[in-house]
Amino acid sequence: MIILTVVGARPQFVKAAAVSRVLREKHTEVLVHTGQHYDDGMSKVFFRELDIPEPDYNLEVGSAGHSVQTGEMLIRMEPIFEKEKPDWVLVYGDTNSTLAGALTASKLQIPTAHIEAGLRSFNRAMPEEINRILTDHVSRLLFCPAQKAVENLRLEGVTSGVHVVGDVMYDAVLRYSAVAAERSSILGVLGLTPKQYLLATVHRAANVDDMERLLDILETFSALEETVVFPVHPRTFKRIRAAGFSAGENLKLMEPVGYLDMLWLEKNARMILTDSGGVQKEAYWFGTPCITLREETEWVETVQAGWNLVVGVERGRIVDAVRNFSPPASRPHLFGDGNAAQKIIRHLEDECR
Ligand code: UD1
Ligand code: UDP
Repeated sequence: MIILTVVGARPQFVKAAAVSRVLREKHTEVLVHTGQHYDDGMSKVFFRELDIPEPDYNLEVGSAGHSVQTGEMLIRMEPIFEKEKPDWVLVYGDTNSTLAGALTASKLQIPTAHIEAGLRSFNRAMPEEINRILTDHVSRLLFCPAQKAVENLRLEGVTSGVHVVGDVMYDAVLRYSAVAAERSSILGVLGLTPKQYLLATVHRAANVDDMERLLDILETFSALEETVVFPVHPRTFKRIRAAGFSAGENLKLMEPVGYLDMLWLEKNARMILTDSGGVQKEAYWFGTPCITLREETEWVETVQAGWNLVVGVERGRIVDAVRNFSPPASRPHLFGDGNAAQKIIRHLEDECR
């Protein structure tokens, strides 16, 4: 089989690393990087640390408004898809790169497989929600991390080609947390003691594009009694610099960290505060309590298990959660067994028979 994989944003490099490794054992992969993320710390570091092969094509689309960014991807992808004639186009998650890959493939009648299908926040103001819905509706195969996603798809009338395979991010966590344990020196570099710091990430448009809301979040972090380690997404850093915000003593703002350092920070944090999708799940797998700085989450299973508290960004609720949130002793197994990639490749092979 020839499989054309589209990636472009940080979490997609992690997901593709898990699948590419298995895929390339028997099949040919053409890797297309849209260039949505391009800073070394948002892109190259993942290729290096996760041994992802160099992309065959880098579309170098870069940053722009949603329509221009997505449109440029469509324009630049079409001739590549036509030339490579893949059996499948593989897309991940819910970014503009995901939607562009799925749309280009469907216009050319190339079957699309969507990994991390069926997730819903039920908030259509989120650009990612639109990307997910549209991608799911043009995909031939829909690989879901858990049963809830199947139900979400069923409610939209999507029932064909739907498979629960688990989460490829869990495959990656299992493989790379051992590597992180060996190689990461981040705790020493930052002078941190395990379980005596909080880890934060914030990059959602709804939280960072509104300056007042972002400053509220930063001031809340600054007012906490514990050390807060905050690797800052470039979208957020631009706003912080523009506001001339100066952090309190306890708040360590830094450039984004590589994947191995991030896993090690997550595992050793007392608690995680985040609006990231991937980080909520990683927190769960490491058994680190998570406070989600949004009004809703797609990863409802982690909330139902009692390990993720969705609190929004109001200061009182965050402070209260940091002080008092205490998950139960048990932590049920969620999102598969770490072999999602194998299952995905098997389904693709079955479809080609
Ligand atoms: C994108 C995804 C989001 C995902 C996130 C992962 C969409 C609509 N959003 O959001 O779902 O959670 O990636 O991190 O696809 N920038 C840089 N350097 C980079 C990349 C971005 O400086 O390498 C800055 C630019 O100012 C850019 C801004 O970040 O305008 C936003 O980047 P963009 O890719 O549009 O969206 P993300 O917020 O990264
Ligand atoms: N991540 C990282 N360094 C950072 C922040 C995040 O390596 O400084 C990793 C994180 O461990 C996870 C992925 O990036 O695997 C999540 O990406 P992000 O939060 O940007 O996107 P989302 O999952 O919300 O789409």
